[in-house]
Amino acid sequence: MSSTGRIEVTSMLMTLSGPSTRAWSHLDARLPDGGAVVLRPLRPGETEALEAVFDGLSPRSRRQRYLTSMPRLPGYARRVLANVDARDHVAWLALVAGRPAGICRYVRTGRDTAELAFEVVDAEQGRGVGSVLVDAVTTVARASGVEWLEVVVEPDNAASVVLLTRLGIRLHLNDGLLEGRGRLRPLDPPSGVDRGAVRAAAIQHAGAIEDDEVAGGSGHEASKPREARDAELAPT
Ligand SMILES: CC(C)(COP(=O)(O)OP(=O)(O)OC[C@H]1O[C@@H](n2cnc3c(N)ncnc32)[C@H](O)[C@@H]1OP(=O)(O)O)[C@@H](O)C(=O)NCCC(=O)NCCS
Repeated sequence: MSSTGRIEVTSMLMTLSGPSTRAWSHLDARLPDGGAVVLRPLRPGETEALEAVFDGLSPRSRRQRYLTSMPRLPGYARRVLANVDARDHVAWLALVAGRPAGICRYVRTGRDTAELAFEVVDAEQGRGVGSVLVDAVTTVARASGVEWLEVVVEPDNAASVVLLTRLGIRLHLNDGLLEGRGRLRPLDPPSGVDRGAVRAAAIQHAGAIEDDEVAGGSGHEASKPREARDAELAPT
């Protein structure tokens, strides 16, 4: 257990897979209750993990996440949500016992502004999974030049209000929804996730996406040269 008492990143694992020599990063971590969780960036086009997390959300959690009743995840939504590029659309996945347990993402809406969204399957809520995901993704966002975050949540979404307040986002009621925009700051108190390891994993992930494209892999957008992406993600 780390000094924060929340979570400890115990190692960084690499796996090799796919058509090129890309290496995808994982952070192997421990939750406050002693459970293990693996964090990693979502890969371009990885819709299976999205569906697995969606399947684990109750109707209430789906409504809280998508702000509408969402009995199923339509194909177009799956494609959009899986169209990550390691720059303007970044999503990280949490796995518990090898199963997808949660996702947090940011989508850039301006040069230095992004929208944040997250969800954790109901069976794993309240264990700290949301905190480590939000900590990891906001770490990547800050390293990528995101300075402002925007969010919209339902007023009765207490867990989200807790997390967003810890990011420094002030929420106000507008047309029945809580809207917020705030200067992005690190999650406080921190979840204990090793932010340096998160940044390193994000850099490696961006490189893996690029390698995949060079090898004729995903065909997803990730147009920046690797050096430019690495510079953007380097610790400041
Ligand atoms: C929001 C959500 C991701 C939080 O995930 P989680 O894994 O349960 O979060 P954590 O366990 O890290 O808890 C975060 C904090 O919220 C608090 N919290 C959780 N549920 C709460 C509740 N019902 N009331 C008050 N606080 C609550 C936790 O106690 C924790 O604070 P702590 O660190 O002081 O204990 C999860 O509830 C969820 O998926 N909700 C549905 C989707 C959603 O609302 N998305 C947000 C809109 S994009």
